[in-house]
Amino acid sequence: MTWTSVLISIFFILVGRLIFKIVIPPLNFPRNIPTIPFYVIFLPSIMNIDQRKLYDMYLREPLEKYGAAKLFFGSRWNIIVTRPELMAHVFKEEDIFAKSGNQKKIPYAVIAAYTGDNVISAHGQVWRTYRSVVTHGLQHFDEAPFYNNAKLFCDGIEKMSNMDGEKPQDIFMGPLIQRLCLDNISQVALGFDFGALTQDDNQLHKHLTNIKKQIFHPFFLTFPFLDLLPIPSRRKAFRDVESFRKQLVSTVQEQLVKNYKFEQTSFASSDLIRAYNNEIIDYKQLTDNIVIILVAGHENPQVLLTTSLYLLGKYNETWQRKLRAEVDAVKGSKELSELPLLNSFIFEAIRLLPPLNTIINRKTTKACRLGPEIVIPEGTYVGYNNFGTSHDPKYWGSDADEFIPERWGDDIQTIFKNWRHAKNAYMMTAFHGGRRACLGEKLALTEMRITIAEVLKNFEWTLAPDWDEKMTPAGPLSPSNLKLHFERRLEPRKSRSL
Ligand code: HEM
Ligand SMILES: *[C@@H]1O[C@H](CO)[C@@H](O)[C@H](O)[C@H]1NC(C)=O
Ligand SMILES: *[C@@H]1O[C@H](CO)[C@@H](O)[C@H](O)[C@H]1NC(C)=O
Repeated sequence: MTWTSVLISIFFILVGRLIFKIVIPPLNFPRNIPTIPFYVIFLPSIMNIDQRKLYDMYLREPLEKYGAAKLFFGSRWNIIVTRPELMAHVFKEEDIFAKSGNQKKIPYAVIAAYTGDNVISAHGQVWRTYRSVVTHGLQHFDEAPFYNNAKLFCDGIEKMSNMDGEKPQDIFMGPLIQRLCLDNISQVALGFDFGALTQDDNQLHKHLTNIKKQIFHPFFLTFPFLDLLPIPSRRKAFRDVESFRKQLVSTVQEQLVKNYKFEQTSFASSDLIRAYNNEIIDYKQLTDNIVIILVAGHENPQVLLTTSLYLLGKYNETWQRKLRAEVDAVKGSKELSELPLLNSFIFEAIRLLPPLNTIINRKTTKACRLGPEIVIPEGTYVGYNNFGTSHDPKYWGSDADEFIPERWGDDIQTIFKNWRHAKNAYMMTAFHGGRRACLGEKLALTEMRITIAEVLKNFEWTLAPDWDEKMTPAGPLSPSNLKLHFERRLEPRKSRSL
């Protein structure tokens, strides 16, 4: 045997092992739950299928039958869970199914450098510290910016649609919705005006758009280990992310001091800065948490608002008309949170298309059981699939795939009772639940009600005739590149800015 043939043999053994590791789940994984074929996760990047179709074709049957399955994702085998009883187990056994976000899973990747170690991804004592600092500001907030920005948003729709011009046009909703959501969260939780809506040429916004392109690059998201290599474009991504983080935190600090008596502010960001001043958290922890409030605070509502405008466009003759009549009838002090149709519509939108579909960020700290029968080894990543949970006919009935807001009830008490019950029974996990429940649910729901109501008052809309009705292929679940056709209802709006 020559050296060449030895080397070739070694090469093939290594490649063979690698293929084996990708194609077959680890041998100590539970045998009594099904395996989703490894290639399923790669299909959206080579074929024209969206997340909903992918679920129907490959995930629905095994998940509805077993409630959990083995899934290849993020360069490793994981266990994903959908059945409510099993979800309850994962969420309650916080110390066994311990949070282990990107900062631990892929610490070398650009995305981990972006969001760091924060209140969503941390575990144990560190998490408790973060949570105690940001809770107050995220639960008690000023709604006024939502109203103001909703008007700016309508100005934007009007201007982009060119309603008074020669050529009115259908518009892509993505960029405008993002600007609205960024402004909302920065004004409500961080204490400064991001200015994405009022300034076309906003530095911080440009900076963010630029780094998001680099962070959410599909290729590097699929193969995060490439960020270990000295690839010039990725080194640049690291530098850009770092400079954005610095710029964001110093803007927050400056604006709080400039616009308010700092001691009197009660934003989530000011509580974080006070915790930093009192040496409860360090500067990196301050930055990580301000960044995550910006990220979770604008991206998730952005996805849900897109979904809501899509559903209202699709059901233009039924739900859009009904909701508008309800919103138009609101007089004086009656709150949007008391409207049955608006609220059941939003809950149903979340059920039908949960914004965060698949989340895999928990790792078992020891060998354990999931439910009575599934035995999981230590160090296994465990996640959940919200779409599966909220579409299972066993829990939601044979019409689980249909859009039926009436299922939540007719009067507002029943609707909220059913929402709380669905969450408590782990049938509705779109906002997580239990101790680690989303801190922004109330804020997000308030933002949705105000924005949807304002758009309903100003416009009638339909799906653009040339828009291809498809959801995103992967990542946050929402209509892909949504395009709508707006018509003004009332007299021309007085354009403020944009
Ligand atoms: C439609 C909007 C939203 C949805 C669907 C949503 C969903 C979620 C989900 C699923 C989790 C758990 C994540 C995990 O399992 O790791 C979570 C956690 C969290 N969310 Fe939201 N979220 C939304 C809006 C917001 C907003 C506006 C904020 C405000 C900043 C926010 C702040 C948080 C925080 C701080 C946590 C971590 C809670 C903890 O672990 O203690 N979310 N959210
Ligand atoms: C942001 O707030 C404005 C009102 O301030 C509201 O109209 C708009 O809908 C909000 N944006 C989102 C995405 O909810
Ligand atoms: C609703 O949308 C459909 C399809 O886009 C359109 O043909 C119809 O005229 C719309 N109805 C109303 C009342 O706008």
